[in-house]
Amino acid sequence: MSSDHDAEIKELLGRMTPVEKFGQLQQLAWGFNTGPGGPGTEDVETAARAGRVGSVLNLMGAANANALQRIAVEESRLGIPLLYGLDVIHGYWTTFPIPLAQAAAFDPAVTETDGAVSAREARSDGIHWVFSPMMDVTHEPRWGRIAESHGEDPYLTARYAAAKVRGYQGDDMSADDRVAACAKHFVAYGGAEGGRDYNTVDVSEQRLRNLYLPPFLAAVDAGAATVMAAFNTVSGVPAHGNAHTLTDILKTQRGFDGVVVSDWAGVDELVVHGFAADRADAARLALGAGVDVEMASTSLVEHGPDLLARGLISADRLDDAVTRVLRLKFRLGLFDRPYVDLDAVIPEPTPSTRAAARDVAARCMVLLKNAPAILPLDPSVSSVAVVGPFADSADLLGTWVLGETQRRFPAGTVREALAAALPDTLISHADGVQEAVDAALAADVTVVVVGEPTALSGEAATRSDLGLPDGQEDLIAAVAATGRPYAVVLVGGRPLTGDWLDTAPAVLMAWHPGIEAGNAIADVLTGAVNPGGKLPVTFPRAVGQVPIYYNRENTGRPHDPARPENPFVSGYLDLADGPRFPFGHGIAYTTFAVSAPELSRTRIEAAALCDGAAVEVTVPLRNTGDRAGDEVVQLYVHDRAASVVQPVRRLRGFRRVHLAAGAETVVRFALGADDLGFWTGDPNGRFVVEPGEIDVHTGTSSATTDRCTLTIV
Ligand code: BGC
Repeated sequence: MSSDHDAEIKELLGRMTPVEKFGQLQQLAWGFNTGPGGPGTEDVETAARAGRVGSVLNLMGAANANALQRIAVEESRLGIPLLYGLDVIHGYWTTFPIPLAQAAAFDPAVTETDGAVSAREARSDGIHWVFSPMMDVTHEPRWGRIAESHGEDPYLTARYAAAKVRGYQGDDMSADDRVAACAKHFVAYGGAEGGRDYNTVDVSEQRLRNLYLPPFLAAVDAGAATVMAAFNTVSGVPAHGNAHTLTDILKTQRGFDGVVVSDWAGVDELVVHGFAADRADAARLALGAGVDVEMASTSLVEHGPDLLARGLISADRLDDAVTRVLRLKFRLGLFDRPYVDLDAVIPEPTPSTRAAARDVAARCMVLLKNAPAILPLDPSVSSVAVVGPFADSADLLGTWVLGETQRRFPAGTVREALAAALPDTLISHADGVQEAVDAALAADVTVVVVGEPTALSGEAATRSDLGLPDGQEDLIAAVAATGRPYAVVLVGGRPLTGDWLDTAPAVLMAWHPGIEAGNAIADVLTGAVNPGGKLPVTFPRAVGQVPIYYNRENTGRPHDPARPENPFVSGYLDLADGPRFPFGHGIAYTTFAVSAPELSRTRIEAAALCDGAAVEVTVPLRNTGDRAGDEVVQLYVHDRAASVVQPVRRLRGFRRVHLAAGAETVVRFALGADDLGFWTGDPNGRFVVEPGEIDVHTGTSSATTDRCTLTIV
């Protein structure tokens, strides 16, 4: 890839002044979306004219994009086009479910669909570059950004990261329906202590490489054009000043030839962190560590020329950073086609993108429990009460929805959608507790829609409590006390806690499902769609258990169910062992039987694995119920004795399968070196496959006990 446009870039570099070079490394925020000439945009226009800015974020609208581009292309000395970036995270006009929900589909195709739809809409409106996918693995449900993540597993996240990059970029980023992706936030941001956003992360080299890095490596392998640095420190060194992670690991060891962009003012924050003495020092440290573009703050452009003249910034490193930016602009086709075709702008969601969003949203839902089987709603019911604060609410789009999208294309509500889906059924609705009780008493069945508003998840939205806010537990208790049948639909951006989860007969985790929220929830409630999602994150019993995650190491004194009287175990005196719902959990309106796994061979040499050999695992699966449905067959490995202790379970395969009632199939997985080895603590990066016994577990959640054993010799 690095040979593309080399000659043109070299020629251009040769004509650039230091100020113009630093200009290419500057990304400015568009103040107000009023178009050139409006308040807050003059600085950007002046910088564009002077060649002191290379990219702009938060500018929306094709006409605005063209007007500012015209200044850069026609009025600046070198005419280098601007690059427009925006936070398009789970949709531009067509809002898909939040990424955490998408992960619950255990089907990376859903995120590829979101990526492709978003890319088409955004590019048509002038956006070249989206700050997505976010791929921070996290064990922290208190952290609001878990909603933007794919949960607690690096393998699942890596598969989604690669799929989203493909969805955005396709085969050719210069196409008018594609954009450049941004793998963020590099790295270990999900490890924020206490779940407090932006907080310290002290992480061992082996955990960095085994837990946090794999999605980034997968994204780079999938061709991700850019990477964004994270706000946190990584073992005492802020990610924006971290040469080990940005340069050694990402650029040198992995060969990443794209652009590293800072996060918003992340360069200046090196001073606040206590790493850089002042803004000039911050500019020097960030560029030196491997940041190529500075977002929002202006330390590099202000201090760079002087630092360069004094020999404090290397000319080669500066040229390398500029080369990366120019290469991206060439790859996006901006030098050939800097302007947007105003006649081809996609102004709103279409019936087909809405259908895609509805299908994806329904695929993401996780039926946590259903006993007795309240769901799906019996088609012959004559009345359904839909109660709770989210029963008739449009606050279901999720975090990172553009303001304009939120205003113009709100989510459909559950009440409206159920009324449309069940035209012959009386649908009553109530918000308050007493009204809900009255409605429940009068109805055949009640659907209680509770959860978290969008404002409680996303950036800087950390919670110390994972319970339902605003007295919603009282509402559930009051409906339960009627003795009438009810089901709970839970919306939100994170795992939630509450003992009501033990007593409610049926609970559907719907997340924040996006623009088609109401219809997708109604599809699942009525059984038009049989739910098949699985939890991409552990649901704790109580917030005090956090961090609790399935891919943990064993202690020397694990809880032993056979010896409950033994007090000297790792756990809590006041809580039962384990989570409320484990990673990978989710049921359907049908049942499945998974038989024990079989291996194509039970012994294999480590050397053969490293040469590319693989072991096949076969898992028979049968739909034992009376409805067609989906099951996600999951494969986990556990290396029983290793030089770095290995997680008790590590997801290394999953397949979402649709089976007719009574149908059966055999699911096959291949296990190779990537699945059976691990990274050691070596700072230079050493991946090893060690001899020993590997337990291969397969089943329908991480709690499965079915297994067979592979011996590596
Ligand atoms: C977030 C990034 C985002 C950027 C630009 C930051 O605060 O951490 O994820 O891309 O803002 O809006």
